[in-house]
Amino acid sequence: MSDKKATLKIDGIDEPIDLPIYSGTLGPDVLDVGGLTGKGLFTYDPGFVSTASCESQITFIDGGKGVLLHRGYPIEQLAEHSDYLETCYLLLYGELPTAEQKASFVGTVHKHTMVHEQIRTFFNGFRRDAHPMAIMCGVVGALSAFYHDSLEISDEHHRQIAAFRLIAKMPTLAAMSYKFSIGQPFMYPDNSLSYAENFLHMMFGNPCEPSNISPVLATAMDRIFLLHADHEQNASTSTVRLAGSSGANPFACIAAGIAALWGPSHGGANEAVLEMLQEIGDVSRIDEFVERAKDKNDPFRLMGFGHRVYKNFDPRAKVMKESADEVLAELGIDDPMLEIAKRLEEIALSDEYFIEKKLYPNVDFYSGIILKAMGIPTSMFTVIFAVGRTVGWIAHWNEMISGSYRIGRPRQLYTGYTQRDFTPLDQRKPAG
Ligand code: CMC
Repeated sequence: MSDKKATLKIDGIDEPIDLPIYSGTLGPDVLDVGGLTGKGLFTYDPGFVSTASCESQITFIDGGKGVLLHRGYPIEQLAEHSDYLETCYLLLYGELPTAEQKASFVGTVHKHTMVHEQIRTFFNGFRRDAHPMAIMCGVVGALSAFYHDSLEISDEHHRQIAAFRLIAKMPTLAAMSYKFSIGQPFMYPDNSLSYAENFLHMMFGNPCEPSNISPVLATAMDRIFLLHADHEQNASTSTVRLAGSSGANPFACIAAGIAALWGPSHGGANEAVLEMLQEIGDVSRIDEFVERAKDKNDPFRLMGFGHRVYKNFDPRAKVMKESADEVLAELGIDDPMLEIAKRLEEIALSDEYFIEKKLYPNVDFYSGIILKAMGIPTSMFTVIFAVGRTVGWIAHWNEMISGSYRIGRPRQLYTGYTQRDFTPLDQRKPAG
């Protein structure tokens, strides 16, 4: 890759240690620290702030400049000219499809939208008031119990079928998890509809009436899926890679990714944004919440602000904001919650604390607003993120499995007890 190297001089070790440096096509050089183990040393980087965990050709982010590229194409161009399934093809195969390749890919996704009929029965094991993300963690993992013919991870054909099944069935399962929670019958997919239309049909349709899907909402939904499609080695994608590195099947790996996504620091933030706006309740209380966010002794954070990688405007957030404005104007929505969101954005963007720490509104801030305007229930926000991100998870998992990889096995800085002898039960005293 490169003949550059760094030389490390460590107190107490006579010989300097040479560490190779690799250059990618974009982004900072990386230091290969693999050789340190042989010298009795590990590196220490909690939160993986400066650790490249793998080599990848799928997505590139320059957080300082606010750049996001999928296979080299800027997210803004994809959002304007492409659609979700075409972007899925790009992420999976590395190139934009020809018209023929696109038609074939879309056709195959459409053919896989139905789920095994016994999965309907499986849903009955959940409590009626289960959170849809809890259902998704369980049901997606359970797909491995239903589709035994796509579990052989060393077989490229099996991996392809698993990819199609996951991309195609996620909207069906997502809509089922919502229908289950409101006690309505599950809707079968309608394969004559586009990916986003079909999702809205299964979410909001019912068997007694023809579905009436707004083209404005379908376009906005497609864009939301597209903007969430991939984001390089984020927490959930890294989780999928780590689970996959042990040789686990793709459905189990994606279920692990869904679990990692659920947290409020990651995909759960879009739901948390709406909960926060509801808690603020009125424009007059915004200052109070901004002050709390700045208080070191208060664990409260402004949800939808800040990002580990972006120290500039998240380019997805820019596009999402435009979409939010379009949807709100088209639908003529007048919601006090949106007024609070707009004011909060203005205040945070001009506040010294947020400016200094480079805490910009992130994609979840605007996706929460737009999904609310579209009439999507708050509990489904993170599920929708998971539907869109499935292709990214699968693309990274497939990239890893089809290349050379080792089981992911981080080390630690141990600060617990040194070795001590077992104390018999009758001689123990309360600790401390
Ligand atoms: N409100 C108030 N202060 C914040 C916020 C916030 N939302 N985010 C970061 N800070 C402060 C933080 O307290 C710290 O201050 P100090 O340097 O004085 O200790 C500084 O900014 C750096 O924060 P950090 O926690 O070290 O940064 P991180 O990279 O570990 O965390 C984050 C990134 C996204 C988890 C964090 O910004 C956060 O909790 N944001 C709110 C949750 C959110 O919106 N998450 C969605 C992320 S975008 C969607 C996705 O890709 O998943």
